[in-house]
Amino acid sequence: MNQDQVPFGDLAREYLSIRAEVDAAINRVLNRGWFILGPEVQAFERQWADFCGAQHAVGVGNGTDALRIALSACGVGPGDEVVTTPFTAVPTVTAIRMLGAWPRFADVEPETGNLDPELLECAITERTKAIVPVHLYGSPCRIGEIVSIAAKHGIPVVEDAAQAHGATVDGRSVATFGRAGCFSFYPSKNLGAYGDAGAIVTDDEVIAARSRMLRDYGQRSRYDHVLEGVNSRLDELQAAVLLAKLPFLAVWNERRRKIAAYYDEALDGELLQPLARPAGSVCHLYVVRSPLREELRSYLAQAGVTTQVHYPRPVHLQPAFSFLGLKEGSFPVAENMARSVLSLPVFPQLSDAEVEHIASCLREFVRGQRLKRSIET
Ligand SMILES: Cc1ncc(COP(=O)(O)O)c(C=O)c1O
Repeated sequence: MNQDQVPFGDLAREYLSIRAEVDAAINRVLNRGWFILGPEVQAFERQWADFCGAQHAVGVGNGTDALRIALSACGVGPGDEVVTTPFTAVPTVTAIRMLGAWPRFADVEPETGNLDPELLECAITERTKAIVPVHLYGSPCRIGEIVSIAAKHGIPVVEDAAQAHGATVDGRSVATFGRAGCFSFYPSKNLGAYGDAGAIVTDDEVIAARSRMLRDYGQRSRYDHVLEGVNSRLDELQAAVLLAKLPFLAVWNERRRKIAAYYDEALDGELLQPLARPAGSVCHLYVVRSPLREELRSYLAQAGVTTQVHYPRPVHLQPAFSFLGLKEGSFPVAENMARSVLSLPVFPQLSDAEVEHIASCLREFVRGQRLKRSIET
C-alpha cells in the first residue's frame, strides 16, 4: 500500500458506508419537528435495553452524565466514597466528583488494565457508597468477583461500560451485572452518535425511574419536581443516528476482533505484548504494552501509522486531582501501564491493506530491535 497516513479513526468513512440509513434517520426527525424526548429516544431506549438484555435503558446527554445520574440514583452524594480504578478515562472520576463524592482507588491488574478484584476490598470503607469498575478498552473486567465482593458489603456496583458496547461475560452483556451500567456514545465509540450521547441500563425499576427524573430537571411529570435533577437528555437526532447504527454494531465488533487477532500474530510477546483480551471483549482499542513504547510510536509514525496513548497519566497523578494527595508510587501497576501502553488503529472501516501495513510494521520493528540487540551483545 502507499504510505499515506493510516488514521487512528475515520468517522467520515463510517458515515459513507451507512449514508442512506443515517440520512433517512436524520430526515425523519427533521420532518417530524420533535427534538427532545420523543419517539426516537423511546425506540432507541427499548432497542438498547433489548440489545444489552436489560429491563430498562435511559438515554442521557453523555457517558459522564450516565455515571453521575446512575450514581445519584443509587444514593451517592456529598462526602460519600466511591471505589474505582485510577487507570481510566478521567470522566469516570469526574462523575463521582460532580456529586461531591470522593474517589478511592484500587490498583489494576497488569494483564488487562482493569480493576484488580484482589485489591478492591482494601479500598472499601464504611463510607463507601458505590463501586465503579470500568470495562477498559472493551475488555470485560472481572465483574462476577467484583459484584460478589460488593454484595458482601451491601454496596451497589455501577459499571462504566463506556468503552464496551456489546462486550459479554459468559454470553451476558456487561453493564447488566451491577445495579446499573453506563454507556457513552461519544462518536468514536463502538456504537457512537454524531455528537454527545449516553445511556444507563438497569433491571432495577427504581433506579430507572429516578434516572429518568434526574436527567429531566428532576420532574416526575411536567412541573412536578420531586428530585434536584439536571438537564441531560439524549436528543432525538442522536437517538435516530444510534437507531440507524445499532444493526451494524455486531458486525463492526466482529471486524474489530479480526483486526486485533491479526495484530496479535505480529507481536513477539516480549518486546511487544498484546494486552490480554478476555473472551467477550469488543476491542474498542487495541493496546500493545512495550518497554520500547516511544521507539515503537515514532517508528509507526514514520511509516504513516497514527497511534494514541490511553492513558499517558493515571487519574490520581493528573494535576486536577492533586488535592487527593496521591503521589507517584500510590498505584504502581496503573503507573507502569501509563508508561508502556500504545493504542493502534482498530476501527472497523480500516482496509485489509492498512491492517497488513500495520502488522508488517510491527514485525519489522521487532526484527530491527532484535538485530540491534544482537549487535550490541
Ligand atoms: C471509560 C470512560 N468512562 C466515561 C467516559 C465519558 O463519556 P462521555 O465522553 O460520553 O461523557 C468515557 C468516554 O470518553 C470513557 O472512555
